[in-house]
Amino acid sequence: GKVAVLLGGTSSEREVSLMSGQGVLAALRARGVDAHAFDPAEQSLWELKAQGFDRCFIALHGRGGEDGTVQGALELLGIPYTGPGVLASSVGMDKIVTKRVWRAEGLATPDWRLVASADDTRAALAALGAPMIVKPAREGSTIGLTKVSTPEECEQAYRLAARYDPEVLCEQFIDGEETTCAVVELGGQDTALPVIRIVAPGGNYDFEHKYYSDETQYFCPSQLPDALEQAIRTLALQAYQAVNARGWSRVDVMVRRSDQQPFLLEINTSPGMTSHSLVPLAARALGIAYEDLCLHILAAARL
Ligand code: DAL
Ligand code: MG
Repeated sequence: GKVAVLLGGTSSEREVSLMSGQGVLAALRARGVDAHAFDPAEQSLWELKAQGFDRCFIALHGRGGEDGTVQGALELLGIPYTGPGVLASSVGMDKIVTKRVWRAEGLATPDWRLVASADDTRAALAALGAPMIVKPAREGSTIGLTKVSTPEECEQAYRLAARYDPEVLCEQFIDGEETTCAVVELGGQDTALPVIRIVAPGGNYDFEHKYYSDETQYFCPSQLPDALEQAIRTLALQAYQAVNARGWSRVDVMVRRSDQQPFLLEINTSPGMTSHSLVPLAARALGIAYEDLCLHILAAARL
């Protein structure tokens, strides 16, 4: 049948999604799939049916694509789609709700406060300790994020985050290794892929370093001790199951330097698939080429 690769959209991660989507499109075509680009910013999803698409590969990032809205439309249209369903997608988009779920499940995530003003942000800094991360609750790709160390920095950090989302999250900063672990359904089995360890210059893994810089180093195999590698994979799988994810996702984890304890940061239910992206890197470590990774994700598409 005919596959629509949903890309673009109107979120602040539009440019990332265009890169992800073009990569997926080329990969599926290279494997003989009748795949076509479909940009929800330019075309209405309601046209998918009339155009004869019988499956969708969701390569959208951020709100209006990764957050359950598009998933809900596809449910109504009766068109199977890749990745998590409505519930997991909308939970995963909201970092605060995600953390509540994980904490309720006894899974480690850094302490946090939901704030509604610069004053709240200063109070959060006093409560959580310095440094802390200030970020929009429902964004991706490090957009709107600031690491603050002093009360003087709180106002600007709050304002920046609030530009993207009225819900602003302050989170204790975990000093240590930045890692990420993909979970992909392979042959019907949710599988945690090898952990990737990320080393960005100055510890600054921001938008530029995610997509454009070649200075960021990615280690996969992670070179972490075996027990820690396994602990991260187990935690990622638990985090994925706790929000009811399916198909695939990527779970970001910080490992505290002082005691090697892993902490969950967030789950990305429609992870980047650009040439710099991480899930393809982890798949390659298992001997799975980018094209075949796309086929596995597509094979798990459902309603
Ligand atoms: N939000 C970006 C696309 C990612 O998590 O890969
Ligand atoms: Mg994210």
